[in-house]
Amino acid sequence: MLVSAKEMLEKALKEHYAVGQFNINNLEWTKAILETAEENNSPVILGVSEGAGKYMGGYHTVMGMVKGLMEDLNITVPVAVHLDHGSFDGAKECIEAGFTSIMFDGSSYPIDENIEKTKEIVALAHREGISVEAEVGSIGGEEDGVVGRGEIADPEECKRIADLGIDFLAAGIGNIHGVYPKDWQGLDFNALDAIKQKIGDLPLVLHGGTGISDEMIQQSIELGVSKINVNTECQIAFNEATRKYYEQGKDREGKGFDPRKVLKSGTEAIKETVKEKMEIFGSINKA
Ligand code: 13P
Repeated sequence: MLVSAKEMLEKALKEHYAVGQFNINNLEWTKAILETAEENNSPVILGVSEGAGKYMGGYHTVMGMVKGLMEDLNITVPVAVHLDHGSFDGAKECIEAGFTSIMFDGSSYPIDENIEKTKEIVALAHREGISVEAEVGSIGGEEDGVVGRGEIADPEECKRIADLGIDFLAAGIGNIHGVYPKDWQGLDFNALDAIKQKIGDLPLVLHGGTGISDEMIQQSIELGVSKINVNTECQIAFNEATRKYYEQGKDREGKGFDPRKVLKSGTEAIKETVKEKMEIFGSINKA
């Protein structure tokens, strides 16, 4: 069932688990994530960065692919198609293309401009029943060309954005996209707690889900995180499995060069990673 992410995250907040956002890159990624969600009776959010959207041909192609797969694979669990770190124009394009959820990342603007632009996106999206994620502070590292300084969000600014009627909020709390550096200080739970106190019952989003320990994940969920984004970990899992396929010379055995065979082990590795995350996040059997 293709849905906005609003209700699934409100349910997650109430029942103390988190829904995974897994970023997609192509048909294999999308199919692997949808099948894993269905097999585990879990809600799921398909994350689409602007770069990945372009790579797949465009936002209409993404929607066509997801809708087709959901019908052909009989996917019945709640699925949201969500723009990840969208620009102002990108957000509008995805609303038009039929995405069911949008992130407008205005964190690189001064707060007043972030608020103005977020407000406009909320009005456009809500008219179509599309959920909206906003960002305050910034997520460190790089996500498909979007570079963040890694600022801890100011709780007062979070409150100002929350008051615009957004559906969930990404607040920087020391999280970083990509693999965490060895000297990473961990998540700032005092900041998370202070933000939660200010914004009340608005679901929070934890970006940079790759490499965060299970303990930190649990603590984040206890403090109001209801959506956790994972991208890099699926990429690494896919790459490692595919590398092994070649290193073992499987591509040279019989018809091992068949692209469906070449991509199979990597696709299976994505499924395993997604399942593992769903277990840790507690979203299994919550569809
Ligand atoms: P990772 O690539 O670190 O898992 O982060 C994903 C993310 O936050 C997407 O917005």
